[in-house]
Amino acid sequence: MNELQQKIINLKKEKNALILAHYYQTMDVQEVADHVCDSFEMAKRAFDAKQELLIICGVHFMAESAKLLNPGKTVLIPKPDAGCPMADMITPQDVTALKNFYPDAAVVCYVNSSAAVKAVSDICCTSSSAERIVKALPERQIIFIPDRNLGAYISSKVTDKEFIFHKGWCPVHDYIVPYDVENARLKHPNAKVLTHPECRPEVLELCDFIGSTSEIISFALESDNDEFIIGTESGVTEHLAALAPDKIFYPLTKNFICEDMKKTTLKDILSTLETGKYEITVSGDDFTKAKQSLERMVKI
Ligand code: 13P
Ligand code: SF4
Repeated sequence: MNELQQKIINLKKEKNALILAHYYQTMDVQEVADHVCDSFEMAKRAFDAKQELLIICGVHFMAESAKLLNPGKTVLIPKPDAGCPMADMITPQDVTALKNFYPDAAVVCYVNSSAAVKAVSDICCTSSSAERIVKALPERQIIFIPDRNLGAYISSKVTDKEFIFHKGWCPVHDYIVPYDVENARLKHPNAKVLTHPECRPEVLELCDFIGSTSEIISFALESDNDEFIIGTESGVTEHLAALAPDKIFYPLTKNFICEDMKKTTLKDILSTLETGKYEITVSGDDFTKAKQSLERMVKI
């Protein structure tokens, strides 16, 4: 631990704060977190937290979700401009238009979305919970928003329902094309390819395992294989390399980086602990409905 990290750990204890970091954060940030999580675990950890002060190292929707699940607690985000471009691809008006067109459908909203969009949805999901959630719903028609790739993947698993997709995508995962997988396999023929369902269907088809960030990590750790090509953000590849030094992890492409996830620095976290900036708030109308959509997910 360096000096800055030690300062953060000391101040975190003094203030009785809980630091949650997503696997896509830089390694030095992951090292000061109480828990490194995927989106679902982050929501769950925030829901179960005993501490009054939660510091979310991730992107804005993650901190907003933590606040929705913990209205009485103080939720801080060290870098307020760290957003998710996919979450910005859909508005509440887009959802309402889809609902008017398909009045019998349930709206399943990927957590990578704003509170305003969650508020007009029936239930939220994460990449690791989406299949279970869609299967648990009584409705036969599902409006899946905003990620078309995750939606297509879930629809291939739940074949007795009809899906209507929004056209959103993750610029980081959707950038990968089949050539990248073929090329990586040529370079590392003994490696298993593990990818995130935000990748395109034609990419997923070529892979050995598809899962959320924590599912990818568990698969790699439990597998007998010792070489892996990691088809998600570089933070996961680095996290795995630190956890399992006896195995080899190759990034699927060189620059598999979510710029927004990399915005948070140790200095930002220290400053958040010192100043109490930047606090997350969600306005009245959206609050109750968005909270319901998230809580339904956590319960299922
Ligand atoms: P996870 O649900 O796997 O944490 O993914 C979050 C995300 O933003 C993926 O791009
Ligand atoms: Fe959003 Fe993609 Fe970054 Fe995840 S990796 S936070 S979906 S832009």
